[in-house]
Amino acid sequence: MQGSANLNVMIKAARKAGRSLVKDFREVENLQVSSKGPGDFVSRADREAERLIKEELRGARPAYGWIGEETGEEAGEDPTRRWIVDPLDGTTNFLHGLPHWAVSIALEHKGEVVAGVVYDPAKDELFWAEKGAGAWMNESRIRVSGRRVMIESIFATGIPFGGRGTLPATLQDLARLMPVCAGVRRWGAAALDLAYVAAGRVDGYWERGIQPWDMAAGMLLVKEAGGFVGAVREGREPMESGAIIAANGELFDPLCKILREAA
Ligand code: IPD
Repeated sequence: MQGSANLNVMIKAARKAGRSLVKDFREVENLQVSSKGPGDFVSRADREAERLIKEELRGARPAYGWIGEETGEEAGEDPTRRWIVDPLDGTTNFLHGLPHWAVSIALEHKGEVVAGVVYDPAKDELFWAEKGAGAWMNESRIRVSGRRVMIESIFATGIPFGGRGTLPATLQDLARLMPVCAGVRRWGAAALDLAYVAAGRVDGYWERGIQPWDMAAGMLLVKEAGGFVGAVREGREPMESGAIIAANGELFDPLCKILREAA
């Protein structure tokens, strides 16, 4: 499957940042035993990955706008298009030497995500989607799972840490969902959680309190893989509300029902 010119630029940027992060990740694994820990080193690795992505994307498409986790928002000459970038999703995993983190790059056109790349360099899995062209992992087409029954299904989520405000609501979600499903996973990288829904590895995902750069590319992956995406509060947009539900077509409504009752 051949992607568009924009998609090729995004993949090139994601792979370049991925190579730089993999090099730094090896160092982080060594730093676990030091008393100071790898905190500053990881912040530098994160910023450097964003710099590489920006150089690549803005070099190829100087008129497009930009929003990145590390460098914030910049308007472009073309007000209809912008890049939405998380250079390192799963920072806490990276910091602890856990090989589960990703580069996430999305392209938005007139307020809609039209292309998305989520790259997991540790596993060399590149998930990508373009509007109308399906969702892919490396060379293979991916689709959401076909499970229809909650009690046989597993779901991914993010659980807020460090006293963030959405913890009580998330605990309520878990109390309602866990008795009626086959399990909940907390892997620590939202972009990969969404990619895994798209690939049928988990049947659904939800999270309260995440940022546009955590979800933009992954949302398109799920939709193009045949799944559904919505906000926890009905009628709102996930990127604007920061609380997202994604699942295959069969489980989306039952999952929404459980989570919206808790909202
Ligand atoms: C975080 C991860 C995590 C999610 C958090 C995000 P970051 O992104 O995606 O899984 O639970 O809400 O902030 O900070 O590593 O880019």
